[in-house]
Amino acid sequence: MRVKTLAADRPVIEPATTEDLDQILCIEQRSFSEPWTRKMFEAEFTGNPFAHFAVARSTAAGEARGIMAYIVFWLVFEELRLMNLAVEPTMRRRGLATALVRHALVVGRERGARRAVLEVRASNEAARCLYERMGFAQVALRAKYYTNPIEDALLMESALLEP
Ligand SMILES: CC(C)(COP(=O)(O)OP(=O)(O)OC[C@H]1O[C@@H](n2cnc3c(N)ncnc32)[C@H](O)[C@@H]1OP(=O)(O)O)[C@@H](O)C(=O)NCCC(=O)NCCS
Repeated sequence: MRVKTLAADRPVIEPATTEDLDQILCIEQRSFSEPWTRKMFEAEFTGNPFAHFAVARSTAAGEARGIMAYIVFWLVFEELRLMNLAVEPTMRRRGLATALVRHALVVGRERGARRAVLEVRASNEAARCLYERMGFAQVALRAKYYTNPIEDALLMESALLEP
């Protein structure tokens, strides 16, 4: 399945495979103070019927088909939950996260989700800006939700209206 082509390096957004996990873990560890483990990612492939896992993969001529970014989201009946999103640090500010979130919103809408929700660390300005630009607004604060470091989570939500 190829759902989206971006202009820059012509990456495509397509489903992740277990063969992508080494590259995904490498990006994960460089992106979060409390990264998901291999087991947690594997559970998204094998043990979770609600989970969708997509990557932005480079298709630039002469390059390995490297993973540039990825997203994990759950479709739980009428609710789309953004569970994980990260972009390879050297490839940020190129619209990759925007494209992946848009992909999740399109899939969610197609499958009947009515709203999208996510949690984000209060100090994560980059992610908060991204989500606000994409129509999410804060609906609640979960005090001391995160550890390492202890920090509040903002719960953000967006209605999924018909396009
Ligand atoms: C947050 C993250 C996913 C953004 O990925 P990205 O591909 O760089 O985002 P985009 O290029 O699509 O950015 C879209 C918009 O978000 C905002 N944004 C993104 N990074 C930003 C930053 N460092 N500072 C301020 N605003 C930022 C900007 O408004 C940006 O638009 P612009 O580049 O035209 O100004 C990326 O920084 C990342 O992987 N961070 C570590 C993991 C993480 O925090 N994941 C989210 C957990 S909730």
